[in-house]
Amino acid sequence: MKLERLNPHLGARISGLKLDQLTMADRGELRARLDEHQVLFFTGQSLDARAFHRFAAIVGELQAPDDAAPSLKTMEGDLKAIHYIDVEGTARGTYSDVWHSDVSFFEQPTLGAVLQPMVLPSLGGDTLWASMYAAYEALPDSLRRVADELSALHQVAYQGQAMQCVHPVVRVNPVTGRRGLYVNRLFTKGIVGMTPVESANLLELLLGHCTLPDFQLRFHWTPDIVAVWDNRFTMHYAVRDYSEPRRMMRVGLAGERPMGLADYAAAQRQTVAA
Ligand code: SIN
Repeated sequence: MKLERLNPHLGARISGLKLDQLTMADRGELRARLDEHQVLFFTGQSLDARAFHRFAAIVGELQAPDDAAPSLKTMEGDLKAIHYIDVEGTARGTYSDVWHSDVSFFEQPTLGAVLQPMVLPSLGGDTLWASMYAAYEALPDSLRRVADELSALHQVAYQGQAMQCVHPVVRVNPVTGRRGLYVNRLFTKGIVGMTPVESANLLELLLGHCTLPDFQLRFHWTPDIVAVWDNRFTMHYAVRDYSEPRRMMRVGLAGERPMGLADYAAAQRQTVAA
């Protein structure tokens, strides 16, 4: 197996590994690599839907389709956890081409996702990811201290109903303790406890910062790639610059309630006391 880092902040290309030969014993190693690199691109793969589903279930617990992406079509029967990402007929700016972290409006948003192309356009259709660890770490100390204390409302309107949840603006990785910003342009609607003007200004400052090219990776797809990303500490953006069909299959992995600094400190105290 060969692992090649793709930029200083996130992304690794892994070759020489057959994903259909992995077993549950490989979960720990896969998850450690995901914590380290945030987005993994496995090259030289040709998984059918069943093998793709099996691999995803090794990376993590599969999310029920309505928890992963309530608005997307799914496969049938025991492959129902697989969604199609198919933007045919959608206009620019109406789908995944806005910086986002999947379903952050849920109490337990997706931990990560596994994505594989089914049909690719001959040009374009790249996906970008931004490291929210790198974005947090690049903030000036004073702003980091402010962000550490904040919570934000994440919300979406779906079939006439609002789905919403409040989460910490700074999220802590429960395993490594590393901190990342947890706001996104698609679903984060406001900072709790501020006037609308204060909230809009501060949110814009944070979102503008998170989407600087400095923290981003842009990936050009080829048919042999299977990607896995950490949805907790990255945002992503699917570029809508093509006119030919583009179809991907994706599985969401079940996540936990985002942990803020206070939750993390409490969990650490409990571990020490136990
Ligand atoms: C998404 O999961 O938001 C879309 C990713 C992609 O189609 O590249």
